[in-house]
Amino acid sequence: MLPDKMILNELIKRWGLDASNGGELIIGGCNSLDLGNIYGTPLHIVNEERLRATAESFLKTIKLKYPGAVSVHYAFKCNPVPGIIKIIKEQGLKAEVMSEYELMLALKLGYRGNDIIVNGPFKTDRLITACLENNIRFINVDSLFELEKIDCICNNLTRNAEVLLRINPDFVPSGMNKGSAAGSRSGSPFGLDLIGGEVMAALEKIKGMKRIRFRGFHFHIGSGIQNPDDYRKALSGLKKILNDAGNAGFKVDVLDIGGGLGVPNSREMTTLELLLYQAFDFLNSGGRTNRKIFFSHFADSVTKGILSLFGNQKIPELILEPGRCITGPNQMLLLKIHQVKDRKGLKKWLVADAGIGTLTMPTYYEHHEVILCNDIRRKAAEKVTITGPGCFSADVVYRNKVMPNIAAGEMIAILDSGAYFTSWESSFGFPRPAIVSVVDGRHNLLRERESFDHMISLDTF
Ligand SMILES: Cc1ncc(COP(=O)(O)O)c(C=O)c1O
Repeated sequence: MLPDKMILNELIKRWGLDASNGGELIIGGCNSLDLGNIYGTPLHIVNEERLRATAESFLKTIKLKYPGAVSVHYAFKCNPVPGIIKIIKEQGLKAEVMSEYELMLALKLGYRGNDIIVNGPFKTDRLITACLENNIRFINVDSLFELEKIDCICNNLTRNAEVLLRINPDFVPSGMNKGSAAGSRSGSPFGLDLIGGEVMAALEKIKGMKRIRFRGFHFHIGSGIQNPDDYRKALSGLKKILNDAGNAGFKVDVLDIGGGLGVPNSREMTTLELLLYQAFDFLNSGGRTNRKIFFSHFADSVTKGILSLFGNQKIPELILEPGRCITGPNQMLLLKIHQVKDRKGLKKWLVADAGIGTLTMPTYYEHHEVILCNDIRRKAAEKVTITGPGCFSADVVYRNKVMPNIAAGEMIAILDSGAYFTSWESSFGFPRPAIVSVVDGRHNLLRERESFDHMISLDTF
């Protein structure tokens, strides 16, 4: 019997997934159950063809729409798996890193210093030194404290640094929690406080720093932005500082507007949803997403925003640092249901082999579709709480998720798990999973499943 046409069409259209005649979920031409049996569960499965296509399309679209120079730097933090970054690099994206480890990884993967941008609020002396020694393209300055530190290290090493100033524009994208919106003045510590005058203060300081070369501004307003027009709005908030910087004699050659674009089939819970979910277990089932997030809308919004700032003047080079929108939709996390616990008259738990304590941290605050891999035709039937293997009651995937009837031993997939799942991973008493990429019915191991020996390999006892 063929799988239900409507369900199958949705899977194909929204995720590029497929199903066997028996209704078993297929990804990249591979049967998901077979992959689970070969590599063990939990298992991260990367859809290589779609990942390549997404990265290529992002780069092409912005280059087509923006009338100036463009560089796209993949944000490593989003999914720092070397095998995944390698695929993205092959599509022409450069690197954005935020730690000594990520910088080392970028260099190891063959990025030249000039292809790397360094960000983050935790630039140690060693990281800054490594930036200078490797001729990193831009250090994005997070604070006045950091600016002085960079200047001091530059003088000690007699090296120069090219910098962008990270602005906190006090802009919260629509539908986003203030606490997780990185461009919020009260919700995030990142960047120089525009309203408080720190950006101009930094420019004044730079005037006296002979080894620091100002090249432009940077902001990153949050992650998971559902309305691409928010970029245009955030950019409009830079008008005054661009004028002020110009009047103070500074030329803005580069605008780095960070990452943050959301994905079509998953999104962060709103503040109200999060409150209702955490306080009362009320899960907004389905969690409407914006299926119309297109790179072309994003590119139009950014281009419009920058053109309206620069008018007839030469427009700056545009730098973008996407993470989520590149990897997010192109990976799924396969879990096996270990046991089903039905407490009479109360609720049903599905105990899976991963939860927020180990691998699914983003399900704490994001909506993701979860599907049964054994038979996509089985209809949604009941609300269940999917828990992880940890011995604590907060280790859940979702509470009150509407699912079909599922039996012990069956497998489920959390979709759109390519952003911030592998970055958040922790072992919590269980080995970290393998990561495989699939393409045209072939599967390639990107990371081996952790062994018990790996887990204690750094310990002394
Ligand atoms: C400075 C910076 N750039 C880029 C990103 C990537 O964001 P996203 O994965 O939402 O595209 C982040 C994420 O936190 C960030 O902090």
